[in-house]
This record gives sequence, C-alpha cells and structure tokens, in this order.
Amino acid sequence: MLPPSKGHVGWRWSTPETLEEERQPGDSHPAGPEASRLKKSNWGFLLTGAVGGTLVALYAVATPFITPALRKTCLPFVPATTKQVENVVKMLRCRRGPLVDIGSGDGRIVIAAAKEGFTAVGYELNPWLVWYSRYRAWREGVQGSATFYISDLWKVTFSQYSNVVIFGVPQMMPQLEKKLELELEDDARVIACRFPFPHWTPAQVTGEGVDTVWAYDASAFRGGGRRP
Ligand SMILES: C[S@@+](CC[C@H](N)C(=O)[O-])C[C@H]1O[C@@H](n2cnc3c(N)ncnc32)[C@H](O)[C@@H]1O
Repeated sequence: MLPPSKGHVGWRWSTPETLEEERQPGDSHPAGPEASRLKKSNWGFLLTGAVGGTLVALYAVATPFITPALRKTCLPFVPATTKQVENVVKMLRCRRGPLVDIGSGDGRIVIAAAKEGFTAVGYELNPWLVWYSRYRAWREGVQGSATFYISDLWKVTFSQYSNVVIFGVPQMMPQLEKKLELELEDDARVIACRFPFPHWTPAQVTGEGVDTVWAYDASAFRGGGRRP
C-alpha cells in the first residue's frame, strides 16, 4: 500500500481479514468535532423530516374540512345536536323504507336511523368523516344497515330513498328543493334540520330554535302543495 500522506487517514491490513484505520500523528479523534458535526446533521435531517411529515399530515387532515367552505355553496361540518337527532327520529315514527342523510357528517343521523331499524345511507364529501362514520357504525353494531359513501350530494340521485334527511344551509335549499321534487317518489318524506325549505309546506314541525326539524311529504309538494 502507498504510504499515506501526513494529516490523512489511511488504511492498512493488520491481518488478512481485518482492515484497520491508520492514523497519523496529529490526527484528531473521530469522536471529536467531525463526529459531533455528523451527529448534528443527522438530528437536522430527522427534525426536518418530522416537521415536514407533521405538516403534510396536518394538510391532509385539514383540507377536507376546509374545502366545503371554499365551494360555491358553503356547507361546513356542523354535527346535529342530540335534541336534533331525537327530533329527526320522532319525525320518522311509523315510516318505513330506505333512508338517506345528505351530507352525513360523522354519521350520527344514519346510525340513529339504523338503530331504529332503517336501512340507512349517508353521502358525505369529506373522506375522513366517512371513514370515521364507518368505524362508529361498526362500534355501535349497525354496520350491516348503515352505509357511507364519499360522494358529492349534487351528483347523487335520491330517487330510491323513501326518507331523506338534510341538515343544510339556507343558500342551498332552493336548489335542493328542485332536485328532490324531480327525483323523489310520491310516498317519500323529507326532513330538514335547522333550516326549512323555502317553498314547501311542512306536514309537521317539531323542536325549537336550532333544534327545529321540519317534515315534508312528497305527495304534498309534488302534488302542488307548495307555498306561493
Ligand atoms: C351541517 S353538516 C351535517 C352533518 C350531519 N348530517 C349531521 O346532521 O350531523 C353538513 C355536512 O355536509 C358535508 N358536505 C358539504 N358539501 C357537501 C357535498 N357537496 N356533498 C356531500 N356532502 C357535503 C359537510 O362535509 C358536512 O359534513
């Protein structure tokens, strides 16, 4: 082997199997400043990775909650109160057939309806809420009758549902009213939470303030039972 120049680290064979580091007089020990620089840069990489990973995770979780607010009609996730859910269930008494919650949030309405014996479906734009709803339904033992889909409510046809629940916002109600009028069968019932439909006449109203729930029968609003 060529003799290493002073100040450099060289290598020599001490035995046929072992390659040893050869140090020159005046060389610093690897545990000195060089090693601590290496250690620091490793921590730097780890920290950058951790901060970057956290930011990506936060972005992935927060975006589906923020984007509904940026759409033409802002329909944010506001879960129904316990009283509101009770009022919806009250309006479903004596009803049968499949049920849909339009914009099902964390699945509480769909799960409550499934517990009442309905085959219930929720359409929701936010995938995190859909996955959470599926988990909740499984935990509550109603996964067989409570189903959740990641879907845009404006792209779904509701004709197969006899019971429709919506906790919307006032800006969307006129357009949804038209859509449901075209799609629902005469025996359907529509239940609106917190905000009523602008033109239909409710068959029943229950609750007060934010917990108010309106029930509309399709036979009335399709048969001309509209308010002027
Ligand atoms: C006011 S929350 C009602 C949640 C649930 N129905 C309840 O009563 O607890 C409205 C829900 O609609 C969802 N949403 C907003 N825009 C949507 C769209 N275009 N299609 C489907 N769901 C939508 C929101 O993510 C939110 O979870």
